[in-house]
Amino acid sequence: MNPGSVNMLRTILELGTIAIVCGVLINIVWHSVRSGMTPTPSSSKAVRAVEKLLMAHHKSGGVIDPGSGWGTLLFALAKAHPDISFTGYEISLFPFLWSRLRCRWLGLANCRIIRQDVFTVPFKREDTLVCYLSPELMAKLRDKLMKEDCDGLLVITNTFGIRRQTPIAEIRLKDAFNTRVYAYRFDPNPAIFQSNRRRHNQ
Ligand SMILES: C[S@@+](CC[C@H](N)C(=O)[O-])C[C@H]1O[C@@H](n2cnc3c(N)ncnc32)[C@H](O)[C@@H]1O
Repeated sequence: MNPGSVNMLRTILELGTIAIVCGVLINIVWHSVRSGMTPTPSSSKAVRAVEKLLMAHHKSGGVIDPGSGWGTLLFALAKAHPDISFTGYEISLFPFLWSRLRCRWLGLANCRIIRQDVFTVPFKREDTLVCYLSPELMAKLRDKLMKEDCDGLLVITNTFGIRRQTPIAEIRLKDAFNTRVYAYRFDPNPAIFQSNRRRHNQ
């Protein structure tokens, strides 16, 4: 091959790589804007706190990550607890593909990743949710739990709590943001909510 052809081939490869990287980034940004949340992974301190709360309060049933991102939280929990079944729902294409591959590489038989909008998945009261979602998505999740038969469902959430619900436990992380991780037993009729509704109706 003459030097001109080699240079041409190199340019094509470089442009192809740049196009693929840009395509992946644009897809991630597009999904983040649509879903209202970037695929930011939980910190290692937050993962440890979620695990501590899970061990203290989980009784039976499967554990769901409603927005599992790159799988950081889900895989750490699934590796540590092979006796529990874990399911991650992820809407964004590349975090989903990456975490599916990682799940296979890690050989985690107790873990599966599904590409689906989690708001279309029915929950059961035996499920446990481990979340790291935006305040808007936590509000949407709360509305969903209200509509379904989820009395007593355990929700462990990194950073953002559930409005009008009282946590049964809380861990404050020693990090730059004083992050909190909360555990709730979902109550569809919290006293504070009822008194607010009464006031609203008067
Ligand atoms: C902050 S990341 C959390 C990642 C992971 N749970 C962790 O703690 O490491 C939130 C993820 O939720 C996903 N997400 C947002 N809305 C969703 C929906 N309706 N259904 C499924 N996934 C969703 C986003 O794509 C993003 O990857």
